[in-house]
Amino acid sequence: MIKTVEYLDGKVRMIDQTRLPLEKVFVDCETIDDVANAIKTMVVRGAPAIGVSAAMGVSLGAESIQADSFETFYSELEEKCLDLSKSRPTAVNLAWGIERMKRVARESKLLGIPELKKKLRQEALDICEEDIAANMAMGSFGQTLINDGSTILTHCNAGALATAGFGTALGVIRAAANAGKKIEVLANETRPFLQGARLTVWELMEDNIPVKLITDNMSGFFMKNNQVDVVVVGADRIASNGDVANKIGTYMVAVMAQKHGIPFYVAAPISTLDLSLSSGEEIPIEQRSENEVTCINNKRITPEGANVAHPAFDITPNDLITAIITDKGIAKSPYTTSLKKLTEK
Ligand code: MRU
Repeated sequence: MIKTVEYLDGKVRMIDQTRLPLEKVFVDCETIDDVANAIKTMVVRGAPAIGVSAAMGVSLGAESIQADSFETFYSELEEKCLDLSKSRPTAVNLAWGIERMKRVARESKLLGIPELKKKLRQEALDICEEDIAANMAMGSFGQTLINDGSTILTHCNAGALATAGFGTALGVIRAAANAGKKIEVLANETRPFLQGARLTVWELMEDNIPVKLITDNMSGFFMKNNQVDVVVVGADRIASNGDVANKIGTYMVAVMAQKHGIPFYVAAPISTLDLSLSSGEEIPIEQRSENEVTCINNKRITPEGANVAHPAFDITPNDLITAIITDKGIAKSPYTTSLKKLTEK
């Protein structure tokens, strides 16, 4: 499997997800601003992958600072993180990755600048490794919820490409397949940016996991005809009451799943929880360029000047969610207590 993001000497290398699956091209980021730009332009996307990339970006930023005292070093680091922290608003993993790096810098202030830079480099590598381990853990918890012979519907791409490796929702699916269960995946294409059609289908085909691509407006049809057994999706941010922000269209899938009595699972690492928020109402929803709606592959499909709206995420209220699969275990309603308990493990 191609690495989503990798920290090589002095560079952060990413597979360009705007070009997949037709081309396998890599982008090398040499500065923290390059990383911010790669996140903004969707070269790298998916909440955990954004968090890992951000941490690597902070390390690149730290490497470039010439300072003799910790105070000067830290204030320059904070300044450099500003743009990065605004690169995408909804996935909490971005702020999580940056904050963890800043905390390590503060805790290591007595080390001296060269050692401090080394420490930050190592922390970014650790965050990357931990993300893969979290996905494997989520996979083994989550696969217990998938019956042999299931057809699993997923939305967007919550796979290896959205993480440091293995994936969250697709991690659960991979783990079920690895456990010998015969499964099939229905992948929603996920307009407007087509992460399902481009990335999920590519990933699952690479792994020889049976996958069928459907357009977003077909999922109700398949649910009504008893052709979906379970839904598994990822998350960009989860509020303390279990409300989930995920790719636009997730809410619609959850409503349909409830209507048809189909279990609806969310798989996300603990780093995607934002327990400072009491509900999903407080989660900022990213509005992206209207070109993602008016164009496909940079080709306009609408009349010139068409008025469009483009919220990139929506909120699925907790009462539509059967369970939240994390790397620490599975949380069920009432989420305010179950999620908090998992963070204390
Ligand atoms: O806009 P994107 O492609 O970054 O959105 C990604 C999603 O919505 C994913 O489902 C989410 O980040 C979970 S990824 C493990």
